[in-house]
Amino acid sequence: MSYTADPKRYGTMKYNRTGNSGLKLPAISLGLWHNFGGIDRFENSRAMVRRAFDLGITHFDLANNYGPPPGSAEETFGQIMRADMAPYRDEMIISTKAGYYMWEGPYGDWGSRKYMLSSLDQSLKRMGLDYVDIFYSHRPDPETPLEETMGALDHAVRQGKALYAGISNYSPEQTARAAEILKSLGTPCLIHQPSYSMFNRWIEDGLQDVLEKYGMGSIVFSPLAGGLLTNRYLNGIPSDSRAGGPSVFLSQNQITEGKLRKIHALNEHAKQRGQSLAQMALAWVLRGVKVTSALIGASRVEQIDDNAAVLSNLDFSDDELARIETILAASED
Ligand SMILES: NC(=O)c1ccc[n+]([C@@H]2O[C@H](COP(=O)([O-])OP(=O)(O)OC[C@H]3O[C@@H](n4cnc5c(N)ncnc54)[C@H](OP(=O)(O)O)[C@@H]3O)[C@@H](O)[C@H]2O)c1
Repeated sequence: MSYTADPKRYGTMKYNRTGNSGLKLPAISLGLWHNFGGIDRFENSRAMVRRAFDLGITHFDLANNYGPPPGSAEETFGQIMRADMAPYRDEMIISTKAGYYMWEGPYGDWGSRKYMLSSLDQSLKRMGLDYVDIFYSHRPDPETPLEETMGALDHAVRQGKALYAGISNYSPEQTARAAEILKSLGTPCLIHQPSYSMFNRWIEDGLQDVLEKYGMGSIVFSPLAGGLLTNRYLNGIPSDSRAGGPSVFLSQNQITEGKLRKIHALNEHAKQRGQSLAQMALAWVLRGVKVTSALIGASRVEQIDDNAAVLSNLDFSDDELARIETILAASED
């Protein structure tokens, strides 16, 4: 079935400015880490991209290694671009990354100029694109001078193969250095992509201050803690869930009794706000507008619908925030 985007797609989504840049990102972005690989059902992946775009989700996040197998999420996305999305390329922000293991030998991992620039060429080929909007260093490389990795990002931008440069999983100190180096090269560091959720708050401890100081935006990944902060595990572990499947990134032993007590308490609180738990978890990372975008994953269209509907209730009273703090601070023993 051919695709025509919903004419009302810009009606409800909110777009936040990315740091001091000219670029706005949707409050909710879609990541293709899980459920878009060669092992997944193409028509489901395709339906999710279409639905996201119809809801005003203009940003799609990839990486060289997403799959499985590695590279296949970019191939799936390339197929969807060709089939459906090509007419909308100028309405889309597409990102990719290099930094984790991708191919054999000494040039297929970490942060050398050789790896970063070869990987970007491969990503563009898999997606059938002339350029990506954001190219990231996926993680800092302790053995490569940061000047070299940042130099590769700058070069990608100067070549026109990326419009903006970003970093992911960098500590506050590494972020400050990366921002300084990129600034000296004349390519500002647009954005940081860290993990952040009610269950993982490391960015509050210094990183957010650094991002503000350097005028960088942030797009936070796993805002639903991989599905823990949703209704997924309220009544056991479904076989079609991340924890119930082969993913090594959410294991059943992370779903402890103590964690479940918190999840149930948060779920009750979300109900009182008239929201799903997923919606409350997303509103929470977006509170105070320090975060530019919440980067969700999804395994089905309905989850994207549920998550995008967060926009109708993003505000918290002080009492509500205090109640959430109390729930999160409770012992998990
Ligand atoms: N930079 C990095 O190092 C890095 C690392 C990890 C992720 N990322 C990026 O961040 C993106 C998101 O990561 P993530 O998938 O871990 O994010 P997440 O949003 O925390 O988790 C997504 C999972 O939550 C469940 N879910 C989502 N919405 C739901 C809803 N409304 N109701 C019930 N369940 C719901 C689904 O689980 P089920 O599959 O069980 O249905 C879905 O697969 C990735 O795709 C990737 O782009 C980046």
